[in-house]
Amino acid sequence: LRVLVLAGGLSYERDVSLRSGRRVLDALRSVGVEAELHDADSALLPVLTADPPDAVVIALHGSTGEDGSLRGVLDLCDVPYVGCDARSARLAWDKPSAKTVLREAGIPTPDWVALPHDRFSELGAVAVLDRIVDRLGLPLMVKPTQGGSGLGAAVVRDAAALPAAMVGCFAYDTTALVERYIPGMDVAVSIVDLGDGPQALPAVEIVPRNGVYDYAARYTAGLTTWHSPARLAPAVAARVAEVALAAHSALGLRDLSRVDLIVDAAGDPHVLEVNISPGMTETSLLPLAVQAANLDFGKLLGSLVARAAA
Ligand code: DAL
Ligand code: MG
Repeated sequence: LRVLVLAGGLSYERDVSLRSGRRVLDALRSVGVEAELHDADSALLPVLTADPPDAVVIALHGSTGEDGSLRGVLDLCDVPYVGCDARSARLAWDKPSAKTVLREAGIPTPDWVALPHDRFSELGAVAVLDRIVDRLGLPLMVKPTQGGSGLGAAVVRDAAALPAAMVGCFAYDTTALVERYIPGMDVAVSIVDLGDGPQALPAVEIVPRNGVYDYAARYTAGLTTWHSPARLAPAVAARVAEVALAAHSALGLRDLSRVDLIVDAAGDPHVLEVNISPGMTETSLLPLAVQAANLDFGKLLGSLVARAAA
């Protein structure tokens, strides 16, 4: 089996992707898969057409890699890949669209407002922000509608901090997602399909040392503590797994994903987002969950590429 691992790309998460890609490459090679790493640049097309691999693993994060564009190119070249199709990628990548689908499917997700930059400047920051605080209350979570790794995201506890948070967000995206912030336990549920349908791996609990799971806390060893499995009562853990699986299915995902949730004080889960191309770095959550489930990361990837290529 000859596999191409795509990593890098030109998104804000390029560095993260290169780390994910190397880890995926090593894991595939550890189980005897002939794998190579390639960047997602214009040199990729000739490779895909002249010497197509049996399957592709997309270890790209952020725009192009995660928004369905690259999947569309692979479809065009008739090259199979691990993970969901272009349409589902596009849906999951745009947080307001994904949240609308989740809510319609009865899956709890925090209330939100999507605010384009143009509207923000037209109406004036103060009027817009007052309206948002009236509607959603405080605290709030501000993040790019399309993005990842906590870039451009901020928790707003005081209305006076909202304008700066919006400006920070608009550095990464033309539309901001402003969400009601739900206090509780941060957990990530990885979903994998080993050939007999999607299954939820044990939830991983995330405890950032400084209280905020930002880019540094995600990718600097020692800045975040994980509890794997999460410290949840069995009934709550079962409910979290059930909601995560429902979110994966509602978005039409396939093979693997990672569902990020908050479990509130009453034990109720709220889905924040679903990642179709979850981080695979040394500090990422899906590989941790795979370990907690006593699965071998290389074998899991090997089985996914074998199924994609079949
Ligand atoms: N966007 C990062 C890579 C993640 O979801 O893990
Ligand atoms: Mg994400």
